[in-house]
Amino acid sequence: MKVLVVGGGGREHALVWKIAQSPLVDTIYCAPGNPGTAALAENVAINVDEVDVLLEFAKAEKIDLTVVGPEQPLSMGIVDLFEEHGLKVFGPRKNAAIIEASKAFSKDLMQKYHVPTAAYGVFSEVGPAVAFIERTGTPIVVKADGLAAGKGVIIAQTREEAVAAVTDMLSGNAFGSAGSRVVIEEFLTGEEASFLAITDGTHIIPLASAQDHKAIFDNDLGPNTGGMGAYSPAPVVTPAVHENAMQQVLRRAVDGMAAEGRPYRGVLYAGLMVTGDQVKTLEFNARFGDPECQPLLMRMKSDIVPVLLAVADGDLSGVQIEWHDKAAVCVVMAAEGYPGDYRKGDAISGLDDAADLDDVYVFHAGTTLKDDRCVTNGGRVLGVTALGDTVQHAIDRAYQGVGRITWPGVQFRTDIGRKAIGRTR
Ligand code: AMP
Ligand code: GLY
Repeated sequence: MKVLVVGGGGREHALVWKIAQSPLVDTIYCAPGNPGTAALAENVAINVDEVDVLLEFAKAEKIDLTVVGPEQPLSMGIVDLFEEHGLKVFGPRKNAAIIEASKAFSKDLMQKYHVPTAAYGVFSEVGPAVAFIERTGTPIVVKADGLAAGKGVIIAQTREEAVAAVTDMLSGNAFGSAGSRVVIEEFLTGEEASFLAITDGTHIIPLASAQDHKAIFDNDLGPNTGGMGAYSPAPVVTPAVHENAMQQVLRRAVDGMAAEGRPYRGVLYAGLMVTGDQVKTLEFNARFGDPECQPLLMRMKSDIVPVLLAVADGDLSGVQIEWHDKAAVCVVMAAEGYPGDYRKGDAISGLDDAADLDDVYVFHAGTTLKDDRCVTNGGRVLGVTALGDTVQHAIDRAYQGVGRITWPGVQFRTDIGRKAIGRTR
């Protein structure tokens, strides 16, 4: 089989790495890919938003399966386009990817189908938004409606901060058209978990539990990022939490989407806030989480390709996914300045030394080659991911890998996985 993976981040490197292990696959292309995927696949210089060019490539190369990593091409309708041309593709269609592309849509869906979530309002005018903020009190959460790379959410501690965020977003200064509507919602407390499942629109197979680390600094301080590290399994997802997430969140959302005439096929990612056994949904994503995908795929024992094919064919019945007993931890190494404006072009040293470690794999995200050297080229640069018999063991391994790699201005959190240790062994 020939497989095309669309994307060029850590998630796509992990997908390529996992797909490359399948005996069903002869050739993998990755568009645009990165220096990490180049070791396992043939990189193709097409960007993720050039969906027509991707289609021409897939037709010309007779690609048997296309796997779409990021949200942008999904929300542009890449899946609809490929299906119209008879090509097999893994991911939700445009009318289902809206579950991530519009937070207002997603909140209204949750309300209609009784998926537990924070109380909220949707606004396109400053006046009513301010009235809502005054009624609700602070802290309060202001979210741009559209896609904002995980950065369109402001947790406002004061009325002034909340009003400033709303004004900024609605004026188009922050996040452009993604902020032309805002969702304002109640601030929830608890511990977050990333709950991902694969679905064909009817059957739902949960993936192993995972936890992300959104804030840039240790102890969850500082602004939110796309994710600074992740691990699996996440002990906060107890059997009772798992059951509630499956029944109250995934089942209701998948059935709700079907009832709306928007059958959902692909990975559905629920960002959960967990308090005791109770779960509330912070958001849905229409794709694998990044960096959650890295530890999850390192732990996946089953061949992923039959699973992806079954979803593309619309029938997951009879499919099972097995997991390694081990834990996996991914520590993201980021460029100076991230999540704000960040430096690019710094030479990365130590990649080979880190790769020498057993059970450590360095997934590339924002890297590129310059004069045959691997240099930084994005905010999140690498995801150093390790397996271990326990979460602590995997943490130690991952940080051993991190310790061998450096560049000027590198930043990473030193507490990835610590919440799991608080709960186990
Ligand atoms: P979202 O993109 O909606 O998941 O929001 C990004 C991050 O903002 C989440 O992972 C949480 O850390 C935080 N967040 C979002 N909504 C809320 C909320 N209602 N209460 C507390 N924190 C939130
Ligand atoms: N790591 C969070 C996300 O992929 O949205």
